[in-house]
Amino acid sequence: MSACITVDKDKRIYKIDTPNTSYVLGIFDDEGFPGHIYYGERIPDTDVAYLARCSEYAFMPSVNPRDRSSFMDRFAFEYPGNGVGDFREGAILVKDAKGHECTQLTFVSDRIYDGKPELKGLPQTFGYISSGKTKNDKYAHSLELELADPVTGLRVFVTYSVYDDSDAIVRSVRIINSSPADMILEKAMSFAMDMDSDDYELITLHGSWARERMIDRRPMGYGKTSVGSIRGESSHQEHPFMALVSKDADQDRGNAYGFSFVYSGNFLAQVEKSQFDSLRVMMGINPHNFEWRLGPGEEFPAPEVVSVYSHDGIGGMTRSFHDLFRNHLIRSPYLHRERPILINNWEATYFDFNTDKLIAIAKEAKARGIEMLVMDDGWFGKRDDDNSGLGDWTVNEKKLPGGLERLVSEVNKIGLKFGIWMEPEMVSPDSDLYRAHPEWAIAVPDRDPCRARNQYVLDLSDPEVEEYVWNAISSVLHSANIEYLKWDMNRQLTDLGSACLSDTTQGELSHRYMLAVYRLQERLVNEFPELLLENCSGGGARFDPGMLYYGPQIWCSDDTDAIERLKIQEGTAIVYPLCSMGAHVSDCPNHALGRITPFETRGHVALAGTFGYELDITGISERERDLIPEQVKDYHRFSGLVRDGDYYRLASYSENGMYDCWEVASKDGKEALITYVQVPAKVNAGSRRIFPKGLCDDKKYIIKQIFPDEKQVFPSEKDGENDMQPLAGETLMKTGILIKNQWGDYKSVLLQIIQA
Ligand code: GLA
Repeated sequence: MSACITVDKDKRIYKIDTPNTSYVLGIFDDEGFPGHIYYGERIPDTDVAYLARCSEYAFMPSVNPRDRSSFMDRFAFEYPGNGVGDFREGAILVKDAKGHECTQLTFVSDRIYDGKPELKGLPQTFGYISSGKTKNDKYAHSLELELADPVTGLRVFVTYSVYDDSDAIVRSVRIINSSPADMILEKAMSFAMDMDSDDYELITLHGSWARERMIDRRPMGYGKTSVGSIRGESSHQEHPFMALVSKDADQDRGNAYGFSFVYSGNFLAQVEKSQFDSLRVMMGINPHNFEWRLGPGEEFPAPEVVSVYSHDGIGGMTRSFHDLFRNHLIRSPYLHRERPILINNWEATYFDFNTDKLIAIAKEAKARGIEMLVMDDGWFGKRDDDNSGLGDWTVNEKKLPGGLERLVSEVNKIGLKFGIWMEPEMVSPDSDLYRAHPEWAIAVPDRDPCRARNQYVLDLSDPEVEEYVWNAISSVLHSANIEYLKWDMNRQLTDLGSACLSDTTQGELSHRYMLAVYRLQERLVNEFPELLLENCSGGGARFDPGMLYYGPQIWCSDDTDAIERLKIQEGTAIVYPLCSMGAHVSDCPNHALGRITPFETRGHVALAGTFGYELDITGISERERDLIPEQVKDYHRFSGLVRDGDYYRLASYSENGMYDCWEVASKDGKEALITYVQVPAKVNAGSRRIFPKGLCDDKKYIIKQIFPDEKQVFPSEKDGENDMQPLAGETLMKTGILIKNQWGDYKSVLLQIIQA
């Protein structure tokens, strides 16, 4: 079934259907309160308005206004206002010209149409399938509700969009001041939904530098529970995603509601459990440090939120997010292309490199089948450590005589593509740029701004600064044959003051900063359409759907240890497709935590992402160097499957403490790749049983053990030998596969399941 939107005009009920889910809302009472009715599995009927429980209210406002608050404080509002009887937190807070903050939004009009409106200046899902040739909107359907507050003159458009091929519903909000005076927007959530609590548990992602997106699951208590960022970026620490799942929900079963914010700056994701056991879910720009002055007639578009409901547990929710982001968010031409296998020199050399060193790396890399050299931090200005040079984007000729042109042409001659690192949003206090323009750094007058990694953030709300940054990026990229850019952002925003904004608009800085980053990235992808853009922020602090709209991949974490990566990549993959996760094989002992893991395991874990190397290939052992061509072969063999297939989490090391296992199955069920990592060795242990997924019940399959050489998996056929009777997909999925206990820690097994 495809997506559609139906309306029962008489009863004022709207039903928004995705292929497998329905979302129902209605307009209630004579006043026209927009109310939530149902969100769950797809249903055939529209009129399920009894679920709004209006018959239980003793004080419907139009019938009996005596205790209006007992209605307001209980009703399931679709976009709740503030200060007029509902004591749960509202989605919007506006100060009118008289200083009052009350808002009550009621229905004005509706519009149902094919396509999806564009959100100006913001990243967004789009209404055509990105693999398709033509940009048309026939895959999207939208419902727009116009709401208004008759007293303040505030108008709010809440839009719901759905796609024929996706179980996601995308929500956005536009806020318009139709009064004759200025208003101050103090809070503008993009998403709000009141739902029955049903004893849900909350899943969020938390972390730190080098430990991003750890999965946290907890029961929902009363009151407000929230995660958020006020760091000016989506952050290492908390993540613009949350899911409400039934207690019994696992990878395959149970109810899962997921919410993801298509934005890269400050956010708030909050659930409030009320006295009546209902939940109010909200997501949007964090109101902390946020203010937006709306003049008469002006409009504020809030970024969009994607919601997904799955009846097939957390795994079903995950696959819906992956498909939506691949088909309707990532625009890059690289989305379905094999990404070049790159070698990055950061962990190889840090700041200590020159042309000779890079050329030596490039030659060894080329001989092993690697396809691109990426030169990381330290090639510009005066930058031999992280204390200086940011902002001065001219080549350091002492390190690279002849500049980028010469280096890149030599690298190209060797037969490798060339990529480069930049951190365009930043300035070092010790830089020519800062000496010339101290006022370009974000700072509050008379207050010494907080340094982080000895750097400041450029005030991108200033158009002159934005233009400087653009010129810096574009002149670097035009100066040589550069085919990849790693755009980094290594500190968070503090001391929120802008020399360019007025006294009354300082509160707009964080959002204006984000809008400028988006404008710069938009210019970048338009001017350099063939450039492969990898976003990064001190590892994965800006790994979010906002950035994926511009670049198809994001550096996942500065922790490249294969075992830590199991958890980081599991948490990241709960929302994001594997093709977006920057993952490299690095050297041991690992630079982040000193662990030694087999080179093969490092390769297998990196295969779950974009795949590349981050080590001094001239300095590793001969044995490890010789393993690279085999890994390169595996990448070429499986990258299409990993990029476009369905991801299944078969076992989680963060849950069982012993082993990790994931699978990617092709959409047609013809092939699957299973990666298994045994973390600690266990003495005298039996084999483990793994249940593959996503195969066709009635098709026969054989299992090829790609790694290791000795037979570890039952049933299986080693390449070339022919000792496995093909088994039906149904059999394999029901009986499972046995993987023998391995000798030693951190051992991996790679299996291919193919139709016989
Ligand atoms: C960040 C990135 C690293 C590297 C350094 C360079 O930490 O995540 O990969 O590029 O910056 O300074």
